[in-house]
Amino acid sequence: MPASTFPDGFLWGGALAANQAEGACFEGGKGLTTVDMIPHGPHRLAVKLGQEKRFTLRDDEFYPSHQAIDFYHRYKDDIALMAEMGFTVFRTSIAWSRIYPNGDELTPNAEGIAFYRDLFAECKKYNIEPLVTLCHFDVPMHLVTKYGSWRNRKMVDFFARYARTCFTAFDGLVKYWLTFNEINILLHSPFSGAGLVFEQQENQEQVKYQAAHHELLASALATKIAHEVNPANQVGCMLAGGNFYPRTCKPEDVWAALEKDRENLFFIDVQARGAYPAYTKRLFREKGISIVTETGDDEILKHTVDFVSFSYYASRCASADMNDHNSSAANIVKSLKNPHIKASEWGWGIDPLGLRITMNMMYDRYQKPLFLVENGLGAKDEINPQGEIDDDYRISYLREHINAMGEAIADGIPVMGYTSWGCIDLVSASTGEMSKRYGFVYVDRDDQGNGSLARKRKKSFYWYKKVIASNGADLD
Ligand code: BG6
Repeated sequence: MPASTFPDGFLWGGALAANQAEGACFEGGKGLTTVDMIPHGPHRLAVKLGQEKRFTLRDDEFYPSHQAIDFYHRYKDDIALMAEMGFTVFRTSIAWSRIYPNGDELTPNAEGIAFYRDLFAECKKYNIEPLVTLCHFDVPMHLVTKYGSWRNRKMVDFFARYARTCFTAFDGLVKYWLTFNEINILLHSPFSGAGLVFEQQENQEQVKYQAAHHELLASALATKIAHEVNPANQVGCMLAGGNFYPRTCKPEDVWAALEKDRENLFFIDVQARGAYPAYTKRLFREKGISIVTETGDDEILKHTVDFVSFSYYASRCASADMNDHNSSAANIVKSLKNPHIKASEWGWGIDPLGLRITMNMMYDRYQKPLFLVENGLGAKDEINPQGEIDDDYRISYLREHINAMGEAIADGIPVMGYTSWGCIDLVSASTGEMSKRYGFVYVDRDDQGNGSLARKRKKSFYWYKKVIASNGADLD
């Protein structure tokens, strides 16, 4: 076996999010969140984009997050499966509305805190480090209906209170934290990303960037508080990553790709460098955006993150005329189709070298350790007549991407760890489907919510176990 390029202590594991796994939507004192209002079916996209207001649940629609994969009741068995694979890290999120059901209370919900203490203690029992996202696409609905969510500055204080509660309640159990999952998705999917819905005629760009300012302040404050509560805490930002390639070497296409990258990297530029980048002045002027700030905001933003985490599923492609060619939208970020790479069943481009390119760009830009906290292949799985799931396509995707990450490490980049997405099958964020599966563990549930919820190890389960045991040296 070749020597491993992965450093000793490299964290290997998998990731999920409360809203896509826990279910138990009405248990434990939990309040409704944005994602609980997003139905499966034809209205899904309009609701996610904030174009169709959905403030009450309807009887004639199915909401996949309400039961999800019932991780809330089954987490002990699920964590045991992760431990069996040899995980040393497990990424999940805390549902804000389990801790503060409405979001604006002064005291937290003890039942919510107890649930997460038990969950994190269960991880520690197997020497698995929890990596915890404070907000993964789930804003308490009360904050949306009463305050307009992140368009309102009050959200900064609500989030800071929630963050302090978590850092204090889970001190000693959790030391790796992420503030907002895929913070740049706010621009592309405003309701699911940040609880934003729009009124007719308003300047949506203004609303989105004002909300972004509030999230960036909240993230910086949370980082500061985490360090105050325990200097050993390490906090990261989280980008829906993947570089834009210019579709041709025409200078206009190269410029378009640069601008598209900046649109996403803007958030990380602030979180990792501590100030608005120079290019925003012109960008805001041209889009008619004027951010309302308060004295002291610049100081708050100086609390930068300890590491930069990101998801990577696909690279992206841009040209001066984005409507010129066929487009695709991996992670809801609009991109042109790249004729040089293959795509998944859902049209997401498969580009392992793009991961190495993205990692090199990010390290050149930020000079902070990287953490790849989501990566994986959404695919349909079939159970064969022997009752097994031979997901070789998934193994091959993961092998090539882990290999590319190894190359990035060999390029000199410090990388803290790798958590593949959806280590156990869960509800898809974009489509609400269960049939878009990412897991090493299969869950018996279909797109309409039928099934026993029984778990089953796939072929990739045994493969990943070997990868972890060899610290990434054995990818065969
Ligand atoms: C990321 C999200 O966008 O990609 C996850 O952080 C999401 O929540 C994942 O599930 C994969 O996307 P999808 O749409 O296939 O579930």
